[in-house]
Amino acid sequence: MTGKLEGRVAFITGAARGQGRAHAVRLALDGVDIIGVDICADIPSMNYPCGTWAELQETADLVGKEGRRAVIGKADVRDQPALRAVFDEGYAAFGRVDIILANAGILRVGDSVDPVREWQDTIDILLTGTFNTVQVALPRLREGAGAARSSSPPRARG
Ligand SMILES: NC(=O)c1ccc[n+]([C@@H]2O[C@H](COP(=O)([O-])OP(=O)(O)OC[C@H]3O[C@@H](n4cnc5c(N)ncnc54)[C@H](O)[C@@H]3O)[C@@H](O)[C@H]2O)c1
Repeated sequence: MTGKLEGRVAFITGAARGQGRAHAVRLALDGVDIIGVDICADIPSMNYPCGTWAELQETADLVGKEGRRAVIGKADVRDQPALRAVFDEGYAAFGRVDIILANAGILRVGDSVDPVREWQDTIDILLTGTFNTVQVALPRLREGAGAARSSSPPRARG
């Protein structure tokens, strides 16, 4: 049986764990290959650890168990060139992108040691990180990417 999104490709940030991993595995079940990015390093203003490289590799393994491929790489969504490098590697492997999932994010819970730093990191990751994610992938997003099925093959933009 083929998935309802068979052959499509999703670009997912924050893919090492949590919702990012869940999106990757669920989409793989529907037939989607994954370009997965994570910072794989802790953020000093946060009082909890970020995802790790081992966790990102585990996401790729779980995608593989669903019969799909994953290209993964370390990148901070605040760093557009680094993000672009991982995206480009995935795009070179798969030749298309259909879904952009700007999922990477942070949220400190509890008392803050440095509220200014924490505010800036949060805004930079949630807002600029999302902007960077879309900037990197949107030029390659296929026309009609939002449709579940298309009678004609989608074409790359531009
Ligand atoms: N879980 C919730 O209840 C909830 C509620 C509202 C919003 N959200 C948002 O949904 C998203 C996922 O939440 P989650 O619960 O899976 O969080 P999580 O902390 O388990 O996972 C987030 C992932 O993003 C990665 N990440 C963080 N900063 C990054 C950066 N600068 N560059 C690249 N990767 C980075 C982390 O390493 C981690 O692997 C987040 O943006 C979060 O703010 C979650």
